Amino acid sequence: MCGIFAYTGKKGKDAGGILLKGLLSLEYRGYDSAGIYLPESGSVKTPGAVAELRKKIPKNFKGESGIAHLRWATHGEPTEKNAHPHADCDGEIWVVHNGIIENFKELKARLVKSGHTFKSDSDTEVITHLVEDHLKKSAKGAKSFEKAALAALNEIRGTYGIALQYKNEPDKIIAARMGSPIVLGLGGDEHFIASDPSPILPHTRKVIFLEDGEVAVISPDKHRIFKLDATNVKRKATKIDWSAEDARKDGYEHFMLKEIMEGPEVIENTLRGRLIPAKGLAKLGGLESVAKQLEKIERIIIVACGSAYYAGLVGEYMLEEHAGIPVEVELGSEFRYRKPVLNERTAVLAISQSGETLDTLEAVREGKRRGALTLGIVNSVGSTIARETDAGVYNHAGPEIGVASTKAFISQLTALALLTMFLGRQRGMTAKEGKIIANELRALPAKLQKLLKQKESIDILAKKYSGSRDFLFLGRRYNLPVAFEGALKLKEISYIHAEGCGAGEMKHGPIAMIDEKFPTMAIAPKDSMYQKMISNIHEIKARKGSVIAVATDGDKEIAKLVDDVIYVPETIDMLSPILNVVPLQLFAYYFAKEKGLNVDRPRNLAKSVTVE
Ligand code: AGP
Repeated sequence: MCGIFAYTGKKGKDAGGILLKGLLSLEYRGYDSAGIYLPESGSVKTPGAVAELRKKIPKNFKGESGIAHLRWATHGEPTEKNAHPHADCDGEIWVVHNGIIENFKELKARLVKSGHTFKSDSDTEVITHLVEDHLKKSAKGAKSFEKAALAALNEIRGTYGIALQYKNEPDKIIAARMGSPIVLGLGGDEHFIASDPSPILPHTRKVIFLEDGEVAVISPDKHRIFKLDATNVKRKATKIDWSAEDARKDGYEHFMLKEIMEGPEVIENTLRGRLIPAKGLAKLGGLESVAKQLEKIERIIIVACGSAYYAGLVGEYMLEEHAGIPVEVELGSEFRYRKPVLNERTAVLAISQSGETLDTLEAVREGKRRGALTLGIVNSVGSTIARETDAGVYNHAGPEIGVASTKAFISQLTALALLTMFLGRQRGMTAKEGKIIANELRALPAKLQKLLKQKESIDILAKKYSGSRDFLFLGRRYNLPVAFEGALKLKEISYIHAEGCGAGEMKHGPIAMIDEKFPTMAIAPKDSMYQKMISNIHEIKARKGSVIAVATDGDKEIAKLVDDVIYVPETIDMLSPILNVVPLQLFAYYFAKEKGLNVDRPRNLAKSVTVE
């Protein structure tokens, strides 16, 4: 996600100062590049965040209105050229944007053909040229700025939260929302547009949240809201009493909970533009350049750390079962010290949210040194691992602020499912199989939305077990890595002893720990391992261990066996970890919150481990 902030005020107001200060409260949304445009003084853009931008602002930079932006890159590297705001051919129409324009390639091709010249690789720039086309080059004669903007917005597919400004009407700013939040701030003689209320609150608490498909025009003393079909919208302002910090967390108490709750949207964004369900195909633009080489790959070595490593373990099951490729999963910190036997028919696949984890990065470099094709599944665009791998898939999960990885993990699993389809369909996966996976992937956001409605009952469950000093997490096959990840979530934010274990492995030692003080979380969906999980649960109950089951909706049998059940919607085995992990994320969150711990910044941990 990116952060946008726009301002228009009466004569004498310092739009530049207001905008730069406001951007600071939006830095959590994106920080790889920043930019600002004031019609009176022009634009300044830079890689980096607000501090870098301030350094480049010239002395005489002034004006009573303007737009500003902090970028979390999705298309195009985080460079000055790709930083927002973007402008049309003549530098008169400017835009800042949060979201992804899905049909920007076809729009750009049409606009280039009709003589427009583009300056960046970003999808966003197409908005300004579309408005320019309608404003200046429309065959039916020039439209007003508002009408040109409306016409342009009606041609766009994808998600956007934007602020648009036209040099020749400097006190007017147009906002529009489709999928990315936009809030208007209503001051007495000044008006604001932002991605969330945090930069507006120091000026006014009177706000209006736009809804999808709505457009707003603001000027210093008035605002108007209408729909894409130009019909007017009457919307009362609300007075918010949140703090700026709350606004950044969308009203949630912690970033971790906010990011867990973003899950459905994250899956949608990871899938966006990458599925062709009718053909059962996955379209991964970041792999196109090595598609031919991938056809010859005979082995994949996944390298990662922490949660990303557990995502890799799920990927191993996916790729072997549905793409028929031998896979090994290695800890980055180990792989780099092995003497791995690799060649050009081996792919080393790095999974990393930050794209900066040194152990994973060095593993990639080791793979490169030994002649392997290197790939990445990375969330941070332009990060070191993204730049040093030969090709890859970006997560598009947005910045993850909580140290404990949650939305990034489910995005990594979603990306691995897409990769499995991509490679599987090169290797004999039938269109029918591909369609099944594609349709199940598309159904996931709604299933996760339904699952998240149980958060209060999971909170109660976490309180019930919050006195525990130990916890065992059990799973089999696709859900063994989920057991490891559930244990990691719990231990890293609540500091208790929690360990993941293959349910079949229990009898080889771990069951000795079980007694009435040592509860177990058993991930037992109705899959091919269900009966074996039921037997394992019997073994635990026979030793007076309490058991919480993560079970498939409607499974009444398991409820008779265990102490507590968290029900999860059914899906195909390979996608079940994407749903089954979320109750464990919520359980860990509420468990640690009950203990009064710093959930977003647990002790001794960093968000990205860039050291040995
Ligand atoms: C996960 O909750 C942890 N914060 C940590 O294990 C993390 O997954 C690991 O450090 C890898 O980080 P990366 O995905 O940025 O490479």
